[in-house]
Amino acid sequence: MTAYRYARRAEVLGESVYDHTPGAIVLNSGLAYPPLLPDVVREAMEAVRDRPGESLQYGPLMGLDNLRDEIAAFAGADGVTCGRENVLVTHGAKSALDLACRVFVEPGDRIIVTRPTYMTALQIMRCHGATFLDVGQDEEGFDTEELEARLMLLRRNGERMPKLLFDVPDFHNPTGITTSAARRQRLVELAERHGFVILEDDPYRRLRFEGEPVPPVKSFDSGGVVIALGTVSKILAPGLRVGWAIGPGEVVDRMAMQKADGGSSPFAQRIVAELMRGNEMARHIDELSAEMRRHRDAMVEAFGDFLPEAEVRVPRGGYFLWAALPEGTDAEAVARIALRHGAEVSSGRLCYPNDVPGHHIRLAYSFVDVEAIREGVRRLGDAYREYSSSA
Ligand SMILES: Cc1ncc(COP(=O)(O)O)c(C=O)c1O
Repeated sequence: MTAYRYARRAEVLGESVYDHTPGAIVLNSGLAYPPLLPDVVREAMEAVRDRPGESLQYGPLMGLDNLRDEIAAFAGADGVTCGRENVLVTHGAKSALDLACRVFVEPGDRIIVTRPTYMTALQIMRCHGATFLDVGQDEEGFDTEELEARLMLLRRNGERMPKLLFDVPDFHNPTGITTSAARRQRLVELAERHGFVILEDDPYRRLRFEGEPVPPVKSFDSGGVVIALGTVSKILAPGLRVGWAIGPGEVVDRMAMQKADGGSSPFAQRIVAELMRGNEMARHIDELSAEMRRHRDAMVEAFGDFLPEAEVRVPRGGYFLWAALPEGTDAEAVARIALRHGAEVSSGRLCYPNDVPGHHIRLAYSFVDVEAIREGVRRLGDAYREYSSSA
């Protein structure tokens, strides 16, 4: 057997939320709800029939101009001032994050994140050798006071200052929290003062179930300190693999030059551009939000019925729910038992930059229907009781 000499980033295989156990109810991964995948047959057919030279060819590194214009208009509707020259099309938001890391991060550089944060983002940033400055959240979102105190301390001690801040300000994955407008503005001020760039990852913004939208962090940015990452994965379909970065032309041009794969599929981009044009995508988002709200309600109700010991923060949009089991519970053990009972959930451990075991469970209500959500939480409740009786 060959003893492969792996790079450090590939030494550990880790857990994948994309591989699922047959028969188990999937509550650990933000997959799209299958009955509401968009119908793209007409757009796909037209793309290959009318534009084969575009759809089936290598495309421009920055992305198709029509799509860049649609994305600029989409962001503009939320108060972001940008034009085509500010938009880079990518293979989804994760790829945009990877490209931003390629452009900014040297091994050992610090990135500011919330504690907890989006687990896959941590993996991507770790691959670039990033280290983390983790900051708490409260009901108003990112704790900017803690951040400021930590930054001042670093400065006083003459330590390396962070280069980037990564956050999911709307319906945060995993906590579901939305950062207030005042805190968003404060983040921009701190970025300007301390010289870091904010990566605003915002896949869930349009999936709001109640309450008023808060302007994007990017809308407070006049000096070019925010790069907004977006995607159609949660509002259309993740299989399209179309996302974007919006930032200063100088930065997105550099990110484009870091693409090692020939760029995103023009075929998929054309489909998305056509869906974004006109009202079709907006109608789809309305329908999807109403469905996700039903899923959220079913999950919250099921927790009340089957796992009242857990403290649940009710998200007002998005795909994820964050549940705290009683302090001291080994959430990873509960997740393992839950899998035996036929429910896949994630322990919150992977969402913490320091990777410590904890008592939180992350659940997604996006993929399965309300009956399966209820049954999945019932199984999780059984798993918790089995764990408690043997602990
Ligand atoms: C915070 C966040 N960012 C990005 C993504 C998805 O990114 P992509 O566009 O690469 O599918 C997810 C999916 O779960 C997410 O929760």
